[in-house]
Amino acid sequence: MKHLWPMLAVLAISPSLATAQDIAAGERSWNKCRACHQIGETAKNGVGPMLNGLFGRQSGSIEGYSYSSANKNSGITWDEATFADYIKDPKAKIPGTKMVFAGIRNEQEIKDLTAFLRQFDQSGKKVP
Ligand code: HEC
Repeated sequence: MKHLWPMLAVLAISPSLATAQDIAAGERSWNKCRACHQIGETAKNGVGPMLNGLFGRQSGSIEGYSYSSANKNSGITWDEATFADYIKDPKAKIPGTKMVFAGIRNEQEIKDLTAFLRQFDQSGKKVP
């Protein structure tokens, strides 16, 4: 948990006012996810579940996607802190997850990716 504190400090001084720059950088980072995940109005489940409306969502809750029981039973509600922790090292946060991804360590990249992801509501529309 100790690595979470600097992240929280960063979030505290710059609340969710994402700049266009963050989002553009986040969209580049999203390229690391696209082989397995979709987002947006036409998003479907693929190798991984679609990621519309991620923040506020219970882990393992997308209908029609066959999650591992590790993910389903993790008890996580995705928010900026749990997501940041997860994406640094998915297998450490959810032991037994079937998401095969090395992780993103860079705090700024995680922040940018978060700004990109949080644009999309549950139906995949971009929230203004
Ligand atoms: C090689 C394929 C692959 C890549 C690349 C990948 N994921 Fe995943 N992801 C998965 C799979 C498979 C699951 C389902 C995990 C389970 O059921 O254990 C998942 C689950 C997730 C979840 C949990 C969703 C939920 O509904 O609980 C999040 C969040 C997530 N991925 C985000 C990302 C992000 C962001 C990236 C890019 C930085 C990424 N993933 C890259 C395959 C991948």
